Amino acid sequence: MNVVITGATKGLGRAIATLLFDHGASLAICSRHQEDLDDMKQSLLETAQSGQTIIAYRCDVSKRDEIDGFGRLILSKWNHIDVLINNAGVFMPGALIDEEDGQLQMMMDTNLYSAYHLTRTLLPVFVGQQKGHIFNMCSVASIKAYPNGGSYCISKFALLGFTKVLREELKAQGIKVTALLPGATWSDSWSGIDLPEERLMQAHDIAIAVWQALQMSPAAVVEEIIIRPQLGDL
Ligand SMILES: NC(=O)c1ccc[n+]([C@@H]2O[C@H](COP(=O)([O-])OP(=O)(O)OC[C@H]3O[C@@H](n4cnc5c(N)ncnc54)[C@H](OP(=O)(O)O)[C@@H]3O)[C@@H](O)[C@H]2O)c1
Repeated sequence: MNVVITGATKGLGRAIATLLFDHGASLAICSRHQEDLDDMKQSLLETAQSGQTIIAYRCDVSKRDEIDGFGRLILSKWNHIDVLINNAGVFMPGALIDEEDGQLQMMMDTNLYSAYHLTRTLLPVFVGQQKGHIFNMCSVASIKAYPNGGSYCISKFALLGFTKVLREELKAQGIKVTALLPGATWSDSWSGIDLPEERLMQAHDIAIAVWQALQMSPAAVVEEIIIRPQLGDL
């Protein structure tokens, strides 16, 4: 199984990459820091089964030429792709009235356009094989605006819109499309928050949901996965 995951060195992306690698997947991963990519690749390869490979590529997904470079590298190495997980994203709090100028642009570039461009680069492979599964890392912020969510909510609503369009376009091609909508999940984005550990979900919880969605027959697709902390949103 060949799996592409953006933003895979930390948080949710890392948990998903690790779980899928443990189940025998080969990975194409990216993030902005080469050292993190090298460390992750080395530690995963220590437990690799025969034939498992990892493509680890440094890029900033918010930059068109860099995300295109990641896509081109994947196409040059793999002639089939089973799973694409558009996970990389950034959260900056703020209210529309006073958030910094450029905040919407930055989050749209990172959270929406990266997924749009990478998906379009890889889609011919999915369409050629008439199978595969694309996940987009949306958020509960894709369905519910909240104070201080600002442009982040706008970008995640847009990503869910993109996911729904993709689902309709790919329905007849045998390609599954799933929107992941997690609530608060422990990751670097929450560092410093003063809450007991059990108040937030674990990144591994989201990885399990991805793995389970991958287990279904070609006749079934999970269109949306909403997962919240047991005590609800923060
Ligand atoms: N944690 C939550 O509560 C939560 C809830 C709902 C949805 N989400 C979504 O889940 C996704 C992952 O969030 P997370 O909390 O796991 O974040 P995280 O812990 O900050 O990890 C983000 C990952 O993406 C990479 N990344 C960030 N910006 C990038 C860029 N411009 N180009 C390439 N790589 C980039 C980071 O590596 P580098 O910094 O080295 O680039 C890191 O590997 C995001 O889309 C987020 O919106 C998170």
